[in-house]
Amino acid sequence: MTVLVDRRDAVAVVTIDRQEALNALDVETLTELCDRLHGLAEDEAARVVVLTGAGDRAFVAGADIKYMGGLGPGEAKEWGALGHEAAGLLEEMPKPTIAAINGFALGGGCELALGCDLRYASSTARLGQPEIDLGIVPGWGGTQRLARVCGLGVAKELILTGRQVKADEALRIGLVDAIADPVLDHALEVAEELAAKSPVALGVAKRLLNLSPSALEREAEEFGELFASEDAKEGLAAFAEKRAPRFTGR
Ligand code: CAA
Repeated sequence: MTVLVDRRDAVAVVTIDRQEALNALDVETLTELCDRLHGLAEDEAARVVVLTGAGDRAFVAGADIKYMGGLGPGEAKEWGALGHEAAGLLEEMPKPTIAAINGFALGGGCELALGCDLRYASSTARLGQPEIDLGIVPGWGGTQRLARVCGLGVAKELILTGRQVKADEALRIGLVDAIADPVLDHALEVAEELAAKSPVALGVAKRLLNLSPSALEREAEEFGELFASEDAKEGLAAFAEKRAPRFTGR
């Protein structure tokens, strides 16, 4: 089991535990995460959900790049859709979701955090959307939610350069709401506070706050189509082979 759920009264802590790959998500782990989130969305006794990563190095270092290296466009669309399902559940379930970002939150990891309502980071956290350096683009909602949370200018800068930001910059640009050590303790404190509020009002507040339109479906589609390019194959292979990619524009 790579996704653990720990119930602390009305608060459910979901921990992604695949530490040998810095909690990067392969099919099994992402499927398990979706199952767990579906269960918690339906469970009225769980008033608040906290998402974190096991160990002290990573929240989630992204989608599993080695797995993605073998995908064609059709499979990549399905893979994108599964990630969208997880981020969408965090965004839409009728109860607050909180990301306790305890290290790297890159690519799909940053996108899961963006699906959450609140984001807290440890002082050692690093966030970013480095997909461009793999010859691909964010595929689990990042192009839409990063712009919504931080503004279009910041989203363009981070997605086009692929650079990572440290916790203090993440706080300055609004990507996280606070820095705290240990971050899980802070997330739990806020979660307990929220668990005492009206779940009905919280659910309606979330639904209203999420009303703004976005092009999430378009992103899922184009993420998959990119896997037909030679640059995507090259970028993903280069990571697994621990070398710099050579992009040709095809
Ligand atoms: N997928 C698969 N394996 C990963 C991984 C990922 N996203 N991130 C880290 N790992 C693995 C490494 O391959 C390594 O495994 P081995 O020991 O078998 O070689 C192990 O985790 C430890 O990683 P490093 O040795 O690289 O650790 P480091 O401290 O030198 O570097 C890091 C840490 C900067 C986070 C680096 O691991 C890294 O750059 N990871 C990839 C980050 C990334 O690009 N994420 C985005 C993925 S694409 C995506 O998510 C698409 C999407 O939108 C859905």
